[in-house]
Amino acid sequence: MNRAPIGIFDSGIGGLTVVKEIEKRLTFEDIIYFGDTARVPYGSKSDEIIKGFSLQNSLFLLKFNVKLIVIACNTASAVALDYLKSLFKVPIIGVIEPGVVSALNKSKTKRIGVIGTYSTINKNAYGRLLKERNQSAEIFSVPCPLFVPIAEEGIADEKFVDLIVEKYLSQLKDKNIDTLILGCTHYPILKKPIKKFIGENIELVDSAEETAKAVERILSINSIKNGEKAKGKTHFFISDIPYRFREMGSKFLGREISKVAAVHQDVFGNYYT
Ligand code: DGL
Repeated sequence: MNRAPIGIFDSGIGGLTVVKEIEKRLTFEDIIYFGDTARVPYGSKSDEIIKGFSLQNSLFLLKFNVKLIVIACNTASAVALDYLKSLFKVPIIGVIEPGVVSALNKSKTKRIGVIGTYSTINKNAYGRLLKERNQSAEIFSVPCPLFVPIAEEGIADEKFVDLIVEKYLSQLKDKNIDTLILGCTHYPILKKPIKKFIGENIELVDSAEETAKAVERILSINSIKNGEKAKGKTHFFISDIPYRFREMGSKFLGREISKVAAVHQDVFGNYYT
C-alpha cells in the first residue's frame, strides 16, 4: 500500500480525458496533474524538444513524490517514454501500449487504423508496437492535426466538422479496417462525428480508458494502491492559464475544475510557483 499520489502530465489540457478515466476507476487515489499549457502543442515539435519538455514535466511531478508517472500525451508517449524510463526508477507508463493492447483485443481482422498528431504518426509508435505484438496486423495511419483545435474550441458538434473528418478519414474508408485507435488526447471529444463517418460498426479505441485500466494493473502488481478508503483528491497545475481554460478544461474532465495553480518556468527550465 502506498498513499503517494499518481503523477500525470500532458502537453496541455487534453490529458484531462485521462484524469477523468483514472478518477472514475481509482476513486481512492490522489492525483497531481501537470498540463504544459504554455508550450502546447507538442504534436508539431521535434523529438529533442519533446524529450526536454517531458523531462522537465517529470521532474516537476517527482517533487510531489509521485509513485507512478502517466504520460497522458500520445505525442510525448511516442517520443519520450523510453528516454524517461531510462532516467527514473519510478514506474512510468504512456498511452500507446494500452491502446495497442485494446486494439488487438477488439480487432477481429487485425486491419487497424491509427489517427494522431503529425509527431505521433511520423514516429509510428502505434504501428511498430502493433506489428511487434501481432505480425499479421495491417496498420493504416493518418495525422489529423485540426482535430486538436476543434476539440479545444468545443465545436465538435458543428456541421463543418463532418467535412474535416471526411477529408482526413476518407483515406481509411477503402482499407476495410474494423478498429480505429484515437491516438491523441483530444480525439475522444470527436467520437461522434468520427463514428458517423467511419461507420458505427468500426470499434473506436479510446486510449484514455485503456490507460486507466493499465494504471490500475500496475498499482496492483506493485502493491502500491492507496489503502485509505477516502475519496482521492486531484490537484491541477498548468504552466500558463490560457484564455477559457476552465470552460475547456471542464469539457475534457467532465466536471468543474475548482482550483488550478499556474507554475512558471525560468529560462533554464526550472519550474517555480
Ligand atoms: N496531447 C497531444 C497528444 O495526445 C495533443 C496536443 C498536442 O499536440 O500537444 O498527442
